[in-house]
Amino acid sequence: MKNKLLLAAALACLLNAAGAAELPRLASKDGRHALLVDGKPFLILGAQAHNSSNYPGALKPVWDAARDVKANTVLMPVAWEQVEPEEGKFDFSFVDTLVAEARKNNQRLVILWFATWKNTSAQYTPAWVKLDPKRFPFNIDREGKPNYSLSPLGDETLKADKKAFVAFMTHLKKIDSTQRTVLMVQVENEVGTYGLVRDFSAKAQAAFEQPVPAAVLARKKPVGAASFATSGTWREVYGDYADEYFHAWAIARYIGEIAKAGRAVYDLPMYVNNALRNPLEQPPKPWNKDFASGGPTWDVIDIYKAAAPALDIAAPDIYNAESAQVNANLALFQRADNALFVPEIGNAAIYARYLYAAIGRGALGVAPFGIDYFNYSNFPLGSTATDKTMVEPFARVFNMFAPVQRQWAQWAFEGRTRGAAEGDDRKPQTLEFPGWTAKLTYREWQFGEVAWKMTDKFPAGTEQPGGGVAIAQISDDEFIVIGQRTRVRMEPASGTQGFQLRVEQGRFDDKGRWVMERVWNGDQVDYGLNLPAEPVMLKVKMARAK
Ligand code: DGJ
Repeated sequence: MKNKLLLAAALACLLNAAGAAELPRLASKDGRHALLVDGKPFLILGAQAHNSSNYPGALKPVWDAARDVKANTVLMPVAWEQVEPEEGKFDFSFVDTLVAEARKNNQRLVILWFATWKNTSAQYTPAWVKLDPKRFPFNIDREGKPNYSLSPLGDETLKADKKAFVAFMTHLKKIDSTQRTVLMVQVENEVGTYGLVRDFSAKAQAAFEQPVPAAVLARKKPVGAASFATSGTWREVYGDYADEYFHAWAIARYIGEIAKAGRAVYDLPMYVNNALRNPLEQPPKPWNKDFASGGPTWDVIDIYKAAAPALDIAAPDIYNAESAQVNANLALFQRADNALFVPEIGNAAIYARYLYAAIGRGALGVAPFGIDYFNYSNFPLGSTATDKTMVEPFARVFNMFAPVQRQWAQWAFEGRTRGAAEGDDRKPQTLEFPGWTAKLTYREWQFGEVAWKMTDKFPAGTEQPGGGVAIAQISDDEFIVIGQRTRVRMEPASGTQGFQLRVEQGRFDDKGRWVMERVWNGDQVDYGLNLPAEPVMLKVKMARAK
């Protein structure tokens, strides 16, 4: 007993001497971003739990699924209704259990603060909020009737949500500032309002008639109209877009205040997630009941940046599996001032290939939604399965990145990585690197060329698009290729000559050293590098003709 106590005291001294782990934070350089964890870039291989899994008794199916999918981070809600069931009386016992169990299960956490808005509604607010609409007002429609969604101009609502969030962040700091199991916090969930463009209460109307704040004017230009005023009221500056933009500003300001107050006590990176508008509608039309008005859609990211500097990221939740939509969303949310992070993507198998596209582009991370063996399926958004078959398509991909996640995040931060997913049109694609182009083709057999017409059959399992590849250029002529169901040909930039010198199939060990398993040659390289259904990792050395 005495020895044990001595040991514990020695350990505590050591921890104090070594100090707490560094705070997770975002770093940006040359328009790229990294999530630094313990001071080094970290790639979130995420698993988001179902909406009702935020109770101690519900956690086991989450850890089981997170382990099976090879996640390193679980994204888990913490609800205002559960931490402050009675006003002013806080209960963080779930947070304690969550953090303790995450550590035992070797998972990091991203916590989702479900409060004033969850998918735009007030359903996760405590009963004392729900039952007091006078103090916590809803948006008011044009006829003067209350809408289902809380107003971002409710001062008491903001005060109460902020107080609960600050209490939560204070608690988190207390239990996690040594180990830093929690990496980021999402503030609210899919904010905005369906069916109503903004609050039309007297208070909101008065604010709407004020001049647009200078910070917004400085960032958000009117869509396609040189004729609009450069300053003035929302209507004068933004015309038909004014109501939506005003609502975005009001919501962003509200969440930004909450995030700022939370960060003042414990400065974790914070983000907001988005139920997307159609990214292919270009230029975007004024809101027409077709998405949640006021949410951080791609076209109002500038308004969020101006109104809520305490939020690091506006992040896309991807539930439309069309490849043109997914690619457009990834591109629109990846900006020099906005790191790409995908906190939700459908858990149906058809989405798995997009992990290559997101991770290859240099996302901070990606998390399929509903990775949790709770007996619930959100089909048709996601999979019908709730068992291991649901996680398998994602596990295959995460399994490839898990051993290189730190190295990959570093390469991505240096701008060395690219990625692609097979398109719905099944057509060839290219990825451009300095000096080299990766030509990608899909639905091919591993032997021979399609042009030879040796067969009119397609490989089994390619009825739906399933190919994907992520490539890192680790030195001028050397590449790490990770992928599945894709034929890759590395070709030198036009005007130069090059050839494939050596292709090794292998993996990285836990010390980050390359372990070669075999050299691909002969049939295995004569027709490009054919990545099979089961993902592989290749180290490809190209050479330039002298
Ligand atoms: C997006 C939301 O952010 C999630 O919490 C969840 O409701 C999914 N939609 C649907 O399952």
